Amino acid sequence: MDKTTFPQLFLAPMTGYTDGDFCRKIVLQGAQGVILGGISVDARSELASQQIIKRGRKEFVWGTVEEIEGLLTKVKLEVSKLKNLKVMKGINIRASSPENFAKAASALSPFFDFIELNAHCRQPEFLELNIGQNLLSNISFLNDFINEYKKRVKVPLSLKIRSSVIQNPKDFVNDLSSVDILHVDAMLPGKPEADLTKLKDFADLFQGKIIGNNSVTTTGIALKMLNIGISAISIGRAALSNPLLFSEIKDRLK
Ligand SMILES: Cc1cc2nc3c(=O)[nH]c(=O)nc-3n(C[C@H](O)[C@H](O)[C@H](O)COP(=O)(O)O)c2cc1C
Repeated sequence: MDKTTFPQLFLAPMTGYTDGDFCRKIVLQGAQGVILGGISVDARSELASQQIIKRGRKEFVWGTVEEIEGLLTKVKLEVSKLKNLKVMKGINIRASSPENFAKAASALSPFFDFIELNAHCRQPEFLELNIGQNLLSNISFLNDFINEYKKRVKVPLSLKIRSSVIQNPKDFVNDLSSVDILHVDAMLPGKPEADLTKLKDFADLFQGKIIGNNSVTTTGIALKMLNIGISAISIGRAALSNPLLFSEIKDRLK
């Protein structure tokens, strides 16, 4: 990926919120990159999403690789809302198997600049399938997803991780099959701030692009996170409460 064209300011994926309309609104505020979804892309992961909806959380249910036409129709509709906007587009996806992940990613790849594998969600329904955050404690299964993707898909792969569950960033990065972007939620459990020390560990170790994430709520915090030597930051919850933050940060970027 070309260093000069990789954006610095992303909207993070928030299932139930980050559809085409919401992404458009945030791009108009100044986001240079958006990540739609997350969506579950096969029958087993979608069933997990539906169970989550039943207990009250918002989740996108956009279709599955088993019924690919429905999934593609929905995704094309959402992406069409971003037509004519200069923005890097990704989509965050979950699947119950490496094959289904790669199949769905391949079908979705013409509409996106990158695809993001969700190794982040921690709802029990996903953990029972050994996906989401559980992929981070099973590096061999995680690498199966990455390797299957690389066999079939040409667009860059992003991996969304939660750094607090990775005890040893060096071992993790060394053992990880090749991904192009590491999207790091550097949450400090129980605290409303990111763990910049851990994020810097990943920045020092990882060769590709790093998107830093968690608790960016002011321009000062955004610039401080960028200054540790990462390519970009992403913002989730503050996009819901204070969309103007994107224009404030964009004005201060180099
Ligand atoms: C309502 C909601 C839905 C989310 N859905 C997803 C998701 O589907 N996939 C994912 O990787 N992260 C998801 N996240 C996590 C965000 O991308 C982000 O990592 C997290 O909110 C921390 O960043 P923030 O402090 O800027 O909000 C979600 C967060 C929220 C609040």
